[in-house]
Amino acid sequence: IPVDPFDLVIFGGTGDLAQRKILPGLFRRFRAGQMGGDARVIGAARSDMDADAYRDFARKAVMEFEPEAAKDTEHLDSFLQQLDYVTIDARGNAGWSELTGMLRDDEIRAFYFSVAPSLFGDLADRLHKHGLDCPNCRIVVEKPFGRDLQTAKALNATIAEYFDEQQIYRIDHYLGKETVQNLMAIRFGNTLFEPLWNSQYVDHIQITVAEEVGVGGRGDYYDRSGAMRDMMQNHIMQLLCLIAMEPPAKFDPDAVRDEKLKVIRALDPVAPEDAVRGQYEGTGQSGSYRNEVGNRDSTTESFVALRATISNWRWAGTPFYLRTGKRLRERASEIAVVFKDAPHSIFGADAGRHRNILTIKLQPNEGIELGVTIKEPGPGGMRLVDVPLDMTFAEALGPEEADFPDAYERLIMDVIRGNQTLFMRGDEVEAAWAWIDPIIALWEESDRPPLTYATGSSGPDDALMLMHRDGRRWREIR
Ligand code: BG6
Repeated sequence: IPVDPFDLVIFGGTGDLAQRKILPGLFRRFRAGQMGGDARVIGAARSDMDADAYRDFARKAVMEFEPEAAKDTEHLDSFLQQLDYVTIDARGNAGWSELTGMLRDDEIRAFYFSVAPSLFGDLADRLHKHGLDCPNCRIVVEKPFGRDLQTAKALNATIAEYFDEQQIYRIDHYLGKETVQNLMAIRFGNTLFEPLWNSQYVDHIQITVAEEVGVGGRGDYYDRSGAMRDMMQNHIMQLLCLIAMEPPAKFDPDAVRDEKLKVIRALDPVAPEDAVRGQYEGTGQSGSYRNEVGNRDSTTESFVALRATISNWRWAGTPFYLRTGKRLRERASEIAVVFKDAPHSIFGADAGRHRNILTIKLQPNEGIELGVTIKEPGPGGMRLVDVPLDMTFAEALGPEEADFPDAYERLIMDVIRGNQTLFMRGDEVEAAWAWIDPIIALWEESDRPPLTYATGSSGPDDALMLMHRDGRRWREIR
């Protein structure tokens, strides 16, 4: 279904995100007919270039990051005609009246802040000064949203001066991932799981977001953030919320976000021994975190594992183990809901210990797997074995249907549609920082640097111990 006509301004229009995700994503939506011929995209950045040069930039971006789609040159040419560019100074006056002149009065106007967070306040200010905080205006704010509770509050206050909460779209691209949305479909669209979704039946839940890549060219930013701020405060906590929340009465923005907020507020403070941080170390010059970021003394964590508990009726007694890191063995992200053992085994000790595990795989291959226990085939008596009732979406739906839109594509279209369900509300972000801040403070106060782990491993040993101590273990990063 095509969305209404819109003017989308990308501040940071020549930046990395615009190049890798926003422009190629918009082109895919254009090809799919969702972005119409009456939509316009305006790149805005400091570089001095004209519309044609920006179209060249966008063409290259699409060719590099969506090479298959880029072969459709007919569509690509018409898409590029809908692009424009303005040289702008976020902190000065240059470019603003030109930009205002480019925008149409009656269409939806979306302003995407794909710039350094230090510019968010300036941009909001300038938009206001030029009358661009009108009712049909909305802003899209990238993460990181602040670096702690205090800065997040200040940022919320600044943008709230000019924009209503309904006009603010705080992006967490994990919420745009197809499987993450499927998590809600599975929980609330089936009768099978919800009755078992509590501490009576669930032994524990594991959330892993493992990356094989290192910090790459983002060393400067990353070294000031670390895994806790870069991944845990947002992506992983959002996954935790969706897994743990009560069923909202409706699939509408505030109903969903109210429930997520309740989860965050019910999280217990994390004990020091339940928070493990690590930093990767390779051999030789390459593969070491400190070399990569060019900071020999860095104590920034590239890995974090937490044991979290939620004090409410549903989850008291069920721990949530969360971990994420860079330069791990493999890129693998999944949520595993590990159910309790059957209350009594009628098959005797030889049958072994078996339990059901529901795994929601986010990447690389999206799908859902339910581990069930069956009889081992053959004449060997009643021996049990665990097998997956496996369903990758590509198999179940066919490759066409499983060609999911990228998270950014979905989210940008939601901005135009005015649907905030998959965006973070201000109070949610603040509550997440309120839970994360004390953990970071503990680390900052301690004189112990992060533990090291070998590049290509599955993280520091202490992260394994976090579960071993409880008589449990992480699922392997495969
Ligand atoms: C970003 C982080 O938000 O998410 C990156 O800043 C991280 O450090 C990325 O690599 C992971 O996203 P995805 O979609 O590749 O899992």
